[in-house]
Amino acid sequence: MIPQEYIQEVVARNDITDVIGSYVQLRHRGRTHTGLCPFHSEKTPSFVVYPETQSYYCFGCGAGGDVITFIRTMNNLGYVEAVKFLAARAGMPLPDEDDKAGKLRSRILEINKQAARFFYQCLNANNEQASAARAYWRRRGLSDGTIRRFGLGWAPDDFRSTLNWLRERGFNEEELLASGLVKRSEKGNLYNIFRGRVMTPIFDLRGNVIAFGGRVLGDEKPKYINSPETPVYKKSRAMFALNLAKKSPSRRYILCEGYMDVISLHQAGFDTAVAACGTALTGEQVKLLENYADEVVLCYDSDEAGQKATARSLELFSHSPIKVSVLTVTGAKDPDEFIKKFGKNRFEMLLNGTHNALEYKLGKLKDNYDLATDAGRVGYIQDAIRLLTGHITPTEREVYAGRLAQETNVSKASIQSQLDAALRQADRREDRRRQKELLNQGTAAQIKVPYSLGGEKALGIANAEQQLLAAMLKNADFIPLVRSRIQPDKLLLPDMQQACQAVFNCYDRGVTAELATLAPEVTPETLSLLSAILARNHDVAITRQDVEMYLDRIEQSFPKSAQAAQMSPEELEAYIRSLRDKKMKK
Ligand code: UTP
Ligand code: MN
Repeated sequence: MIPQEYIQEVVARNDITDVIGSYVQLRHRGRTHTGLCPFHSEKTPSFVVYPETQSYYCFGCGAGGDVITFIRTMNNLGYVEAVKFLAARAGMPLPDEDDKAGKLRSRILEINKQAARFFYQCLNANNEQASAARAYWRRRGLSDGTIRRFGLGWAPDDFRSTLNWLRERGFNEEELLASGLVKRSEKGNLYNIFRGRVMTPIFDLRGNVIAFGGRVLGDEKPKYINSPETPVYKKSRAMFALNLAKKSPSRRYILCEGYMDVISLHQAGFDTAVAACGTALTGEQVKLLENYADEVVLCYDSDEAGQKATARSLELFSHSPIKVSVLTVTGAKDPDEFIKKFGKNRFEMLLNGTHNALEYKLGKLKDNYDLATDAGRVGYIQDAIRLLTGHITPTEREVYAGRLAQETNVSKASIQSQLDAALRQADRREDRRRQKELLNQGTAAQIKVPYSLGGEKALGIANAEQQLLAAMLKNADFIPLVRSRIQPDKLLLPDMQQACQAVFNCYDRGVTAELATLAPEVTPETLSLLSAILARNHDVAITRQDVEMYLDRIEQSFPKSAQAAQMSPEELEAYIRSLRDKKMKK
């Protein structure tokens, strides 16, 4: 039995959009994502992912559930296997191995801490290598304070001294190899991987050293060597200098490409600079930033690679509540060089004049056209208008339409009328899509009442029961209210009885009732039905009055429904018919 807290942690660390996104190409649509259903073959997307409820539902085939259900179905796994799969994906230790793995992790952290101390000591030693290393950092403009704050160091240029220092401190071979600082040669001897490099430790949020980046002093290749992934270091989740940035009162972060950029910016007083070290930015890192930043300024290198990375990152941030903008450094290859050349005040000016994502994209579009020619202007306007029909506010649209008119020397009225036409067209497309979705929803929402009553009444009750479940899952505040008036076994639908009981159980245990926590207590069919119900209610705000209405409806119709639950389908049918007749006589 896997503990409930562990499952919750697994679910919390595996964002459903990320997980499904690695199997299905998803498109962002308002607060949901849609794609082609992986569980049945289709040409138009009817598969929807709901980040808010961390669930998915296919309006085509009715498949639905939470992230665990998805992995089970997708990979044909049992419940426990699926949980383990997701735990591994999130780099979590397996629940039973916790202890052994936990011990190794803390040993590795201890090794890293000792190594960082060693490198710092080597930088400040009294020998030739050390003074060359100190001269290097000085040449890069770093003060002693910055060196201390970042814990920068020097790894001596030999295969053994780091290794020996660590051995003397009692770490065994297995631990040293697991730390990634040490490797075994073909001959079977251990040696340290960082040699003759200035060292930058990477810290986690708690201040543990989790990895290192080491740079050569000259132009040799490779310029940087980084720690490999280890049990304490997952590149896709680490963020360089976030441990420092999180202390800043500012929630406007500066995201750079390199260690040096970050260090320089901090030294210049921009204390929210961070970088995704040694890799392209990931969705996990964006999620991590969401805890600290309301706004992120992308500040990548001015070369082509940097601009490509900017475009990729903008895409990642488009799924995030973080407001993103782009700073382009001109006259220097990266922010570090910019600050050295032009000073921090000029950088501050750049920072305050950053372009928002839309402006940046418009600027990029503009580069494709020669605005001196008519054809160029027409092409630019067409492309730009397409961009302006996207998800932006009317004010933004107004502002950028005006700017477009100025840039192209075309009257604002003409731009506006083209834009209106494009918007109408987009609206019509959206309407058609909505209609279709509603139609599909209609069929999916067909409630299976377990008898052939043909009575709207039973359907009405069943619907009220489903809405009640939706209400409790969307807002836990309703649970005590429902609980005070309903006993799960009084409900008409067996699915909803099961689900309702499971919600109450979670509530009693103080666990949030959501698909993941209900899963162990209900059948997969019920779980899938619940995800359908949530899907249907995604855009619906269920109020207290609604809940009262559902409760009234359920209670009035089934004053004796405790007995009803015991009835055979035929008896139930007769019973409901009698209720209906009674009502008609009134
Ligand atoms: P840069 O080459 O822009 O690094 O690569 P930088 O920090 O500005 O380095 P300086 O100014 O030349 O000292 C950006 C980042 O990509 C990773 C490092 O994390 C680096 O900071 N990188 C780069 C590597 O991991 N290995 C490399 O060989 C080069
Ligand atoms: Mn650089």
